[in-house]
Parts: sequence; C-alpha cells; structure tokens
Amino acid sequence: MPKINSPDELEHVRQKILSRRDPSKPCVSICAGTGCLASGASEVIAAFEAEIEKQGLKTKVTTKGTGCPGFCERGPVVVIYPEEICYLQVKPEDVPEIVSQTIRERKVVDRLLYVDPATGEKATRESDIPFYKNQIRNIIGNNIRIDPKSIDDYLALGGYSALAKVLFRMTSEQVLEEVKKSNLRGRGGGGFPTGRKWEESRNAPNEIKYVIVNADEGDPGAFMDRAILEGNPHSILEGLIIGGYAIGSHEGYIYVRQEYPLAVENVIVAIKQAEAYGFLGENILGSGFDFTVKVHRGAGAFVSGESSALMTALEGRVGEPRPKYIHTAVKGLWDRPSVLNNVETWANVPLIINKGADWFAQSGSEGSKGTKIFSLVGKINNTGLVEVPMGITLRDIIFKVGGGIPGGKRFKAVQTGGPSGGCIPEEHLDMKVDFDELTKAGSMMGSGGMIVMDDDTCMVDVARYFLDFLSDESCGKCVPCREGIRQMLKILSNISKGKGKEGDIELLEELSGTTRDASLCALGRSAPNPVLSTIRYFRDEYEAHIKQKKCPAYSCREMVSYYIDPEKCQACMICLRKCPAEAVSGGKHQIHVIDQEKCTKCGTCFEICPPRFGAVKRISGESVPPPISEEKRIIVRESRKDE
Ligand SMILES: Cc1cc2nc3c(=O)[nH]c(=O)nc-3n(C[C@H](O)[C@H](O)[C@H](O)COP(=O)(O)O)c2cc1C
Ligand code: FES
Repeated sequence: MPKINSPDELEHVRQKILSRRDPSKPCVSICAGTGCLASGASEVIAAFEAEIEKQGLKTKVTTKGTGCPGFCERGPVVVIYPEEICYLQVKPEDVPEIVSQTIRERKVVDRLLYVDPATGEKATRESDIPFYKNQIRNIIGNNIRIDPKSIDDYLALGGYSALAKVLFRMTSEQVLEEVKKSNLRGRGGGGFPTGRKWEESRNAPNEIKYVIVNADEGDPGAFMDRAILEGNPHSILEGLIIGGYAIGSHEGYIYVRQEYPLAVENVIVAIKQAEAYGFLGENILGSGFDFTVKVHRGAGAFVSGESSALMTALEGRVGEPRPKYIHTAVKGLWDRPSVLNNVETWANVPLIINKGADWFAQSGSEGSKGTKIFSLVGKINNTGLVEVPMGITLRDIIFKVGGGIPGGKRFKAVQTGGPSGGCIPEEHLDMKVDFDELTKAGSMMGSGGMIVMDDDTCMVDVARYFLDFLSDESCGKCVPCREGIRQMLKILSNISKGKGKEGDIELLEELSGTTRDASLCALGRSAPNPVLSTIRYFRDEYEAHIKQKKCPAYSCREMVSYYIDPEKCQACMICLRKCPAEAVSGGKHQIHVIDQEKCTKCGTCFEICPPRFGAVKRISGESVPPPISEEKRIIVRESRKDE
C-alpha cells in the first residue's frame, strides 16, 4: 500500500478506487457478522464464490462478506446491489437459484424475501423492510456495504476525509468547538457531553494525554459496539485520531473484550492498513501530527467497563474501580489526562466533522441529539440492532421497527439500560426515548439494551435476574455495593420462591437507597434501578407474591402448580408421553393425574394439552384439588365424546 502524504493524494487514491468500481456491476454482500456466521454465513459465502465461478461470472460479479446490518435474527442476510434486493435466512442450497435468477436474469426469488407478519406483504429492497424503513442508520447503515477487512471499501465511501479535513482545514480548537456545538453525548451509559470531556482533558496541564475506546460492552444481550467494531472498524479509528488531535493526544487505546474475537481481528487488520496508508503513525498525511493506537484485550468483567476500572486494567492491574475525586479526563491512565469514550460515540465523530454540528443536531430531542443504536430483544417480532433518532417514542421502536409482540400477546414492559436499567410499563409507551426522559422514568439509556416483555414475564423475577447478574459482577471492593446487592438479591429470591414477608418491599426500598447513595462506582449506584422501577410500576405483583403467594405471570416455578381437570381430560396420553419428569400417570382409558411430588413445573403438559380439551390447569396462589379416586379415573371414550 502506498503511503498517502497529503489530502490531494488521499483524494487521488479514492478516485482511483472508485474508477476501478463499476456501480452497475452486481455485488453480492453477505453479512459476515458474528450473528450471521453463527447461522451459517461462511458456508453461504463459499457457496456464492463457487457458484459464481461455476456459472462463469467471476469477472462480472463482486462477492463480499460484510459487517452486520442489524437484522441478525433473520440471518444470514444477503443484499444484492445495485438493485439492493435483500434475501433473508439464506442457505447454501438457495445460492444456485439466486445466481441464475437474480444475478443472471435480474429476477427476484420471492421465497427469500421478507414477509410482513401483519400484512403478509413482501419487501424486495432492504430499505422497504419495515424494520429498516423506520430507522435512521447513520452509524450502522454502511455496514452491509463494507468488507471490514478492506480499507478501500471505507475509502470508497469517503472514509478518512474527516481526518484530512481536521488536520488541514481546522485547528484543534475548531474541532473541539464543532463537537461541543453538536451536543454529542456519550453513548456508553451516562450521556456525559463529549465536547466538555474533551475540553477538560485538553486543558489539563500534562504533555502526555490519552484517548481510549471503551469496547468492553458488558451488558447481557447488547452487541451494538461489537457490530460497529466488527463491521466498520475504520470509522472508530478515524474518530479516535480526530479526538487525539482535538485534545493534543498522540496515543490511543482500544479496550475490547476478549470474547469478541472477530472484533479484535478486524480492528487489528484495520490498524495495520491505516498505518500502511499513513492514517496512523508519524506525520499523518504529511500534517506533522503523530498518533498511534494499541489494542488491549479485556478479560470480560462487567465492572471493567467502568472508566476508572478500565484504566486500571489498561495499566495491567485488576480492573476494579477507584474513587474519582478528580475526573479521569484530568487524571486517568497512569494519572494522565485521558478521554474515554464509547465505541458508538467515537463512530459519530467523523460524521459530525464531515456533515457539521448543525446537521448532527437536526435529529434527536432537545437534550439528546443524533441517533442511538439499541439492541432490541426479548418478546418482539423483529429482533436485532436498530438505529433510531433520539426522541423517538418507545411505541414506535417496539411496534413500528420491532413489529410488535409475537403470538398476539400484550406488551407489558420494556427494560432499558442494561442490568442497571429499569422497567418501563405500558402507560409510558408514548414517552420519548432519550437520556433525560429515561432517567425521569426511573430507568436509563445505558449503552442501549432494550428487552421487551409480555404478560408471561414476572417483574419480581426480572428484578431478581438482574440483581443476580450484578451480584456476580460487583467487584466486592466496597461494602454498600457488595452487601447491598447481595441482601436485595436474597429478599427477591425469597419473594419469588413464595417465602416473601410483610415489610420486604419497604426493606428493599431502604437497601436500594443506601446502595445507591453509598457505593463507590456507578455499578452499585445504579444497581437498585431494576428493583425500584419494578416496585414503582408493578407493586401489585410484589404484593401478590408476598401476601397471596401468587405469581400473576405464572412464571415463578415455586409458586405455580399444574393439575389435570378430570372433567376435561380425554385420556389422550399426549401429556403423559411428553412429560420429561414422568410425573403424569394414566392410560388410554384412564384419566391422567400429575404426581405433584415428581412434577418439575416445566409447563410442558400445559403447553401441549390440545386447546380443545384444555384439561391441564395452571394455578398460582391456590391449592391443587385432591386427585380423584382410582375407580373414577376409568373413562369410556365414547361416552366422553358425547358430552
Ligand atoms: C459497571 C459499569 C460498566 C460500564 N461498562 C461500559 C461499557 O461496557 N462500555 C462503555 O462504553 N461504557 C461503559 N460504562 C460507562 C463508562 O464508565 C464511561 O462512562 C463511558 O465509557 C464513557 O464514554 P461515553 O462518554 O462515550 O459514554 C460502564 C460504567 C459502569 C459503571
Ligand atoms: S450478524 Fe448478520 S445481520 Fe447481524
């Protein structure tokens, strides 16, 4: 690769890349993100390469493995340009037909298109799919167009032009002012104004300063940072170098968890390519500015994503938080000024520089500008990564982008903000999703996890689940966090086992207050959120568990029982055969009975009993009726049919 020594040379290289690319030439983009790889994308890529060769199209078609466009649940995702035809859940055996029909004949293979579950309508182009149509994909939109291991793909889309702009046409003060003007707030959780943080570091009196990418992404179920790192690593590098220039730093770190091997691999490749082209190293693009980047693999502890813990881990010590009497922006890594920003925050920077702060601030709400990527999961039709403007309502995310709740069930709540976030109920579906509104509702933005729940979800159990996670992940260094979370977890576990006592809710509230006020870091300070938000919105569920020993969602196993209604049982033997615990007795002409001692409460019998019989009953908060006598269990099929 030739070293690029000026913005003119960069433009020349870009034009050369573009001149080698014919926009009318078919290009098959196959998502090679972790989600699609898990559902067989490697085999699909190999099948395309072989089939294209077999059909003699090698010089006429481009094939590439790309980053994740977000619709992982329907992967492997294939998009064929220039028409932008989008095929979902593609298998290697579909490939010959796609090549001969779509690539040769320009005909669409109908059965591989997205079908709207509500209307039955098919969508041919990626941008026609409701999941994508209702998003604004500034950050992840390019993923499906880029082979993450090809810097030329990034350059072809205008990559590194923001870097050239800042180095040659802007002073570092102007860069800082532009970021401040955009009102960009950190995407890693707290929503701290990025420009202010940069300014603090810039003004700190120390020759050596650092800029750091937080790619720890410890929230269970969240994978937006992974998708950006895997899919478009140069966008983060470009943002980081610009940040370094703005604050006067010449050294950057990417702290990425070890469990993201593809992200680590793609980032390392990207760094090597950027060095070869001269976007990293000494005298970048001939500007006189030097900047280097190192990758640090994190051991994968949730708490290591906290700023002071992350910096301690970068120093080679155990990743535990420390008191931050002085901001890490002033005294961070090796006690030097250090700007730590989240992956998505950095990825926004080149866009702000290229398109301007005013463009950025056009989308979003009053206090939260731009877009945010959410990991939309749980009881929702369209699962995946969604990028939406801040200020969009929860209802639009869940019903327009997410396609609503499967199986015609009712929406109950959405948990936002990762394990330390909160649950927001149906009555707040029309609230605007931004940093401030989510906090007001008792939750938080966090890094963008969004777990949708339907009526089958028990809110006490949800709080217990997250406290269980946090109790494992608390570093244990400070007592309020370590003991507070542990005690809250103990009470929640008792409540969900039917052992709750009067006063437990009040005790949970009290412990929440102390843990929130006295913990060392934000892990402990935000840990009560799942407890307090579920008590705030679903207090009646807590009371039902404690007073009536009833789980209204029939989810807490210890509080649920199953029995067979002898009046309705048809002795069909279905539940008897399927019960994994062999707890059902009976026969062809004998009414079935569940042995309560053996029953593991897995609910299989309830799920498979044919709805026209409806013989298996699920109860909570009441006693199981005594089984009928042996003689009465014998039934004559014909007579029962007449009933
Ligand atoms: C327990 C804990 C875990 C965190 N994990 C992450 C993480 O995985 N990624 C992240 O970007 N920020 C994480 N944060 C927030 C960081 O401390 C920090 O605020 C953030 O990286 C700053 O970047 P931003 O201003 O761009 O959001 C975590 C905070 C806490 C308290
Ligand atoms: S990994 Fe392929 S769509 Fe997400």
